[in-house]
Amino acid sequence: MNKKPIGIFDSGVGGLTVFKEIRKRFPYEDLIYFGDTARVPYGPKSRNTVIEYSVQNARFLIQQGAKIIVIACNTSSATALTELQSILPVPVLGVIEPGAMSAVKTSISKRIGVIGTEGTIRSQAYSSAISNLDKNCSVFSKACPLLVQLAEEGWEDHEVTKLTIKEYLTPLLKNSIDTLVLGCTHYPILKTSIQQFAGNEITLVDSAQAVTDKLDDVLPNRETMGTGEDRFYVSDNEDKFNKIASKILNMEIDKLIKVKLGEGWFLN
Ligand code: DGL
Repeated sequence: MNKKPIGIFDSGVGGLTVFKEIRKRFPYEDLIYFGDTARVPYGPKSRNTVIEYSVQNARFLIQQGAKIIVIACNTSSATALTELQSILPVPVLGVIEPGAMSAVKTSISKRIGVIGTEGTIRSQAYSSAISNLDKNCSVFSKACPLLVQLAEEGWEDHEVTKLTIKEYLTPLLKNSIDTLVLGCTHYPILKTSIQQFAGNEITLVDSAQAVTDKLDDVLPNRETMGTGEDRFYVSDNEDKFNKIASKILNMEIDKLIKVKLGEGWFLN
C-alpha cells in the first residue's frame, strides 16, 4: 500500500508552527519535516540563493518519499513557489496565498499590516496577493528580521524580544490597522508577546490554519493514509532544534536525523 508522507520544510524551527496544525488536522498522515538549520535565516538572502535552497530542500523531501510539499516558509513561498511547482513531480503548496485570504476575510476596516522577513516584504508577495483578492484593501508592511533569530533562540517572552517587537511595530501600528499578518512562520512562536504589544483590537493572522485547509482540498490518495508517524530532519544543530521543537510541539522528538544538503542537493 502506498503510504507516502507529506513533506514540509522551512529554514529552521518556524515551519513547525505549520507542522503542528497539519499534525492536528491529519492524525493518520505520515509527516516529514526538514529544517535547514545550517543555512537559517533565509530572509536576508538573495532571491537566487533562496530558490536554490528551496529546490534542494524539496528534492530531498521527495527523495524521502513525499507525495506533496508544503513550503512552511514565507520567504521560500514568496520567492520559489512558481519554480518548485514547475519542476517538481508532486503538488507544492505555499503559505502566502492562504495567509492573504485569511487576512482579507478577517479585516473589517480593510487596513491590513504585514510583517515578515526582508525577502518576503521586498517581494511584495502579500501586498499583491491581498490586492488581487480585494482591491479596496490597504496593506502596510514592515520587515522584522531580528524576530527570526529570537524565535530560533526560544526567547518567546524575553525582554529583548518585547523591546524588538516594540521597535518594529510602533511605526506600523500608526496606520490604524485592524489585522496583522504574521508573514513569517517563525513569528507565531512569539505570538503572545506580539499580541500583548499590538493590543486585543488587532487580530493576528498566520498561515498555518489556512494552508492546512488548502492541504485538505488537494491531498491525493486519502484512502492510503499512514500511521501518523513523524520524522524530522535538520541540516545542523540537532540538539538545539530538538530542544525548541519539543517546546513548540509539546512532545518529545524521537526521530531526528541530521543531513547535509548542497550542490546536487544531497551529500550524505
Ligand atoms: N520562517 C521563514 C519564513 O516564514 C524564514 C525565516 C528566515 O529564515 O529568515 O519566512
